[in-house]
Amino acid sequence: EAARKLFAGETDFLKGVVAMDGLPPDDRIEVCFAGRSNVGKSSLINALTGRKGLARASNTPGRTQEINFFTLADDHYLVDLPGYGYANAPVAVVEKWQRLLKQYLSGRASLRRAFVLVDMRHGIKPVDEEIMCLLDRSAVTFQVVMTKVDKIKDRERDRTLAQVREKLSAHPAAYPELVLTSSEKGWGIPLLRSII
Ligand code: GTP
Ligand code: MG
Repeated sequence: EAARKLFAGETDFLKGVVAMDGLPPDDRIEVCFAGRSNVGKSSLINALTGRKGLARASNTPGRTQEINFFTLADDHYLVDLPGYGYANAPVAVVEKWQRLLKQYLSGRASLRRAFVLVDMRHGIKPVDEEIMCLLDRSAVTFQVVMTKVDKIKDRERDRTLAQVREKLSAHPAAYPELVLTSSEKGWGIPLLRSII
């Protein structure tokens, strides 16, 4: 019921941030969505809020190039992050985002939980582990959200989930429960809303 109420509230784009001094005041509950380029962060925000074009999603890795803040009701921020790993943008630009991303993830007081998105077809990659280690060091609780679950068969799914669970056991800041989602099909979206 609380989740229904929260997500029935107004959602809006607040601002895109390119440097730490552009962050809005950290005066409300904040959760962010991190993950490799193209994993489905922006699509997940759209699915959660039920607003298709709210966060810009596309098939080009590197679509989200700023830290985008979305307001949820009056007292929450949903934060869409640029992807890490491969992006279709110049190296110098990508390095700038990566620096900002790391500063944000390790230095944001109001960040209650980072959702780390992992593509169901790929499992946890070395770049994901790098981010997870950063979150461990910064004592930011994170939870893995599997994305694009609609794209694979059950057997492959079990293999990837075993890999993910095994890797997560090494991270003290990891929340053990995984959330399986498909933004396309709406799977796992009500569960993720209630977690938020
Ligand atoms: P960057 O901003 O570039 O880091 O990417 P992102 O993580 O925000 O990914 P985005 O949401 O833009 O989605 C990338 C592509 O994956 C788009 O073509 C989406 O339509 C597709 N996609 C995202 N989620 C799903 C899903 O659950 N199922 C399927 N089949 N496709 C998805
Ligand atoms: Mg994006």
